[in-house]
Order: sequence, then structure tokens, then C-alpha cells
Amino acid sequence: TKVLYVASEAVPFIKTGGLADVAFSLPKELRKIGIDIRVVIPKYRAIPDEFKKEMSFIKSVEVPVGWREKYCGIQYMEYEGVPYYFIDNEYYFNRESGYGVYGYYDEAERFAFFNRSVLEMIRHIDFKPDIIHCNDWQTGMISPLLKAHYNENLEYKNIKTIFTIHNLKYQGIFSPEILGELLNLGSEYNHIEKLEFNDGVSFMKGGINYSDIITTVSESYAQEIQCEYYGEKLDGLLRKRSEELYGIVNGIDYDIYNPEKDNYVYKNYSIDSLEDKTENKLRLQELLNLPQREDVPLIGIVSRLDSMKGLDLVVHILDELLDRDVQMVVLGTGDSYFESIFRNYANRYPEKLSANILFDNSLAHKIYAGCDMFLMPSRFEPCGLSQLIALRYGTLPIVRETGGLNDTVRSYNGFTKEGNGFSFKNYNAHDMLFTINRALEYYKDRTGWYEIVQNAMNGDYSWKGSAQTYEELYMNLIS
Ligand code: GLC
Repeated sequence: TKVLYVASEAVPFIKTGGLADVAFSLPKELRKIGIDIRVVIPKYRAIPDEFKKEMSFIKSVEVPVGWREKYCGIQYMEYEGVPYYFIDNEYYFNRESGYGVYGYYDEAERFAFFNRSVLEMIRHIDFKPDIIHCNDWQTGMISPLLKAHYNENLEYKNIKTIFTIHNLKYQGIFSPEILGELLNLGSEYNHIEKLEFNDGVSFMKGGINYSDIITTVSESYAQEIQCEYYGEKLDGLLRKRSEELYGIVNGIDYDIYNPEKDNYVYKNYSIDSLEDKTENKLRLQELLNLPQREDVPLIGIVSRLDSMKGLDLVVHILDELLDRDVQMVVLGTGDSYFESIFRNYANRYPEKLSANILFDNSLAHKIYAGCDMFLMPSRFEPCGLSQLIALRYGTLPIVRETGGLNDTVRSYNGFTKEGNGFSFKNYNAHDMLFTINRALEYYKDRTGWYEIVQNAMNGDYSWKGSAQTYEELYMNLIS
């Protein structure tokens, strides 16, 4: 089976969110079980030079973008056994102004070009995919373009498509003029049964409507997005396609996130040496200028500071929480509103809260290893990777029961002694505080606490099972 996996970002080259982690670790796992899967992403300016130096030039081709023809360089390299193609165009992806990946004024054009380039590339490389596997709106026009422009062509005729939703909220909606000007599609596509969405044209809808199979990154999210509250106005369409909609939970990369081998943490540890986890806590407290105390519960947040992550709940009860004997560390960037609130609270509670408003991978690992609890009260969460990392590091997650959080964290039950974390249902600050307090109560009995930590560390959060599910899906699709 040959699969071309298309994404707008992939670790280690470029990352703004969880999609990049998945675009690296899922293909790696699928190759282990014998699938010839290759990844293609844009060649952004922000990709580090060490990688750019290793890329080799395959070919350049002309790609239609409306009535114009644009240069597209195809470059290639292998990383940890996975072949990667890069779509190169100075104007679209090597911009001087800002090192940003997204958020330019001509996003529609950049990604229309990317989508069309991926399809054109196929006839110029010696890799003929059976399946094109697309991810999120930045790849949403590949399936409609394949059907509209390549259907007559034998090389393309039997290619199947899968579209994976990592976050339904970002949809890539633009003016209907892009149909003719960028995508070479007629105005008949400006129709509710096709690409039309709220008087615009939607990349996300293109992916959902025209792909053979749709997947998303957890079973709960697959159900939720068929309802109005989570459906982002596409719930009707998703209900219509529910027979072809699958929820497959993400895993984490067990080589990168392994407390026994992790080079970023102060002291490696395992389920049998939890005293070394405590060592990580003390060193982390020292690093953050918090009082070095083994007995005080340390709560971590590693997150994009985005309203989807439920941080307004945290802000709402922060005084109440910090009045207790706890410590907290926040790491992340995002909305300036949240950035300044956390900075401000850190000034008011210097002994209790450490606010780190930056992106720091090494510190992130130290937080996963050094904290006792990990707070993630998302408003919605397609899968979520941080709670999985926390679980593997024995740092008990406190989460809201939504999407992937609901599928991976089981709230501890004191009677059956089952569960690997703590959870609450309603999007309500005091329900969350109640649940944090419940965790703090359990923390006082350290032997009991370590039993829950063991439950967490004994779980399987790897890609193994889910990679097999993808494999089955691929096989069914082409059989
Ligand atoms: C998006 C989602 C997140 C998911 C990730 C990878 O970032 O918001 O929940 O874990 O994609 O699929």
C-alpha cells in the first residue's frame, strides 16, 4: 500500500500545534508495519537550515493557480526512515516578512497552490499513491481538485482520499471568487451541496464533502461534531456522512516521550523509581524560583493560551486556588489576554505561580516530569496530546470530559481504585475547582496517590493500536 500523507506542518521541520506531532509519529509507526507512506509539506522559511541542507532537488514543475502558472520545486529528504517531500516556492513559503507559518493575507492562494502542487507532483515522482491522506483545512481542496481536474487521467483515476479533521473550528473560508481565480473551478461549485459555506467557499467542507473517508482524532470528538454545539455549522454534513466518519485516537511518540530515556529531564525515572520523579520536582521548583518543597502539590499547564483550552475557567478560580497550599506552573503563548493575566498573577503570588510565557520544549518536558498534576480543562479537544504525555510521565491529568480527553482519562474511583486522573463534565469553573480539590485530597495520602500514578503509567498511549486501525482503514478503502 502506498500512501501520500499531506499536512501543513510536521515535526521536526515545522510545528505550531499537535498536528505536527501526528504528521511525524503516525507515518513513522505505519512504516513499521509495512505501509509505504510518505509525507509532503510546504518548504517554509522557518524550517531550520540543518534540514534544508539535507534536502535534494528532484524537479520543478509548473502549477496552475487560476490563469497563472506558478513555479513549484519538489524537494526530498528522509528523516528517521520516513520519506518527506517539500513543496518549494519562494513567493508563497519563503517570505521575509514574519517567520509565520499561517496568518498571511493571501492564505487562500498559498494553500490553493499547495493543494494543486501536491496533485501535480504525483506525476513527476516515482511514487504513485493508492491513497492521499489529507489533514485539516489547509489540505481540504485536494479531494475536490482531484475529482474535478484529474479524473480523466489514468494515473490518478483510482486514487482514494482520506481527510482527517484535527480541529473543526478552523475551516479556511474565503470569498467565492477563489473558485475561478485560484482553483480553476466553475461557479457551480458555489453551491451548498458542494463547497459553499455561509456565502463563502470552505476548504474544510471540500475535504469533508469530497473525500472517500473522513476521520477525526478521537471517538468522542467524532460523535460530538455531529451535534450542533461542537459541529461548527458542519454538523449536518457530518451527520450525512456518518457512515464514512471514523474516530481514531492519537498516540504519542514513545521514543520522544519516555521518562526513562528523556534527555531534557533532570533525572530519568520509571514506575519503579518514583523517588526520582520527586527529584525532578525539586529541581523544577528551583529552576522556577518556587519554594523547594516536596510536600506541596505542583500543578502544571502546558498549552497554547487559546480560549479553546478552557483557560477562562482557570482564571475564574485562580485566587481561590492559589489561596490554598499549592504551586502552579504555566507554560505557553497565545492570546495576549491570557498572557498578561498569568504574568500578573505570577507577580501577585510569586511563591505559588510561575508564568512562563514562551515556547520552550525543554521546559515542557521538565514540567511533564516534575509536576504532580496536569490541568487541561478544554472547552473542546479533538484529541489532545499533552494529557497523554502527562499520563506517561505519571503526572495525573485533571481534565474536562470532552473529545479525546474523555477517551483517554478515566476519573479515579476511590472504591474500585480504577482510573488514571480526574475529570468533570460541565464547562463550569467551580465544577473544575471541585475536581482539583478532589485531587488535592487524594494527594495527601501519598501511598494512595502512587497507586493512581501507577495506573497512569501502566496505560498504553502509544500509536500501536491506532496505527493498526489506520492500516485496516487503508486496506478496506483500496480493496
Ligand atoms: C489539534 C487538536 C488537538 C489534537 C491535535 C492532533 O491540535 O486541537 O486536540 O490533539 O490536533 O490531532
